[in-house]
Amino acid sequence: MDIRSIKPVFFSPTETTAKIVIKIAQGINPDIITGINLTPPGARSQDFGQLNDELTIIGTPVYAGRVSPEAVRRLRRIKGNNTPAVVVVVYGNRDFEDALLELRDIATELGFRPIAGGAFIGEHSYSNETAQIAVGRPDDQDMEAAKRFGEAIKGKMSEVSTLDDIPALHVPGNFPYKKWVERDAMAPVTVESLCTLCAECVAACPTAAITVADSVATAENECIRCCGCIKKCPTGARKWENAWIDQVRKWLNENCRQRKEPQIYL
Ligand SMILES: Cc1cc2nc3c(=O)[nH]c(=O)nc-3n(C[C@H](O)[C@H](O)[C@H](O)COP(=O)(O)O)c2cc1C
Repeated sequence: MDIRSIKPVFFSPTETTAKIVIKIAQGINPDIITGINLTPPGARSQDFGQLNDELTIIGTPVYAGRVSPEAVRRLRRIKGNNTPAVVVVVYGNRDFEDALLELRDIATELGFRPIAGGAFIGEHSYSNETAQIAVGRPDDQDMEAAKRFGEAIKGKMSEVSTLDDIPALHVPGNFPYKKWVERDAMAPVTVESLCTLCAECVAACPTAAITVADSVATAENECIRCCGCIKKCPTGARKWENAWIDQVRKWLNENCRQRKEPQIYL
């Protein structure tokens, strides 16, 4: 099977998933790459319909060992049409636990045919100067691995004449998936002395939780803790002031400093 058109579909508040998914698509090197970015607030209500491209690459971040629930809600607005799909999760150098299995199962439920899977590493959303977790990732080595994964997918597809020739995809993970624990509502704060009211945080927020007038206001109950606003703020004015986040950062710093490498399943 020749692949001429690819649709990367991704939810990526701090843009590491987007980078990986697009690099995998470039590794396959099709004639056409047209993506769907599920990150802006509008993607919550947009109807994407059925995807008839020759291959879809679905990428989401790992949140607490699962697919980000906000990504799941948005993915459910898309349907496959027996469309082959590559499922990709990006995690912050702790663990991806059941997320890749969950994403494979969601893709199947939506009408896709998962043919390959990958777990890649991105800078941890909670990483900061005192807890530097996977800083700068995906780096050149990760991007090369993503490109090679794309090349391998192309090779696998060229060896078969129909999708039925491809065996079911096996990826690690457990079912029932790890239990998702709802946390109390919380959101980053704005340091007013550093804030220029530029509204970059508003543009970065996938759930439209932030508004800017004379000052920045954040609706805690809308925040999904993705840290998009913190990473995008040009003056470093957005930050966490939360004991639970401090504790998570401390744990990550003590336990997740050793570099993990991408894993692929073909
Ligand atoms: C709420 C939340 C939960 C997270 N849980 C995990 C996790 O269980 N394991 C892990 O390694 N990284 C975890 N991360 C880190 C992200 O998976 C990682 O930073 C990823 O690269 C973010 O993707 P994005 O840049 O596309 O937004 C979590 C991040 C957030 C915001």
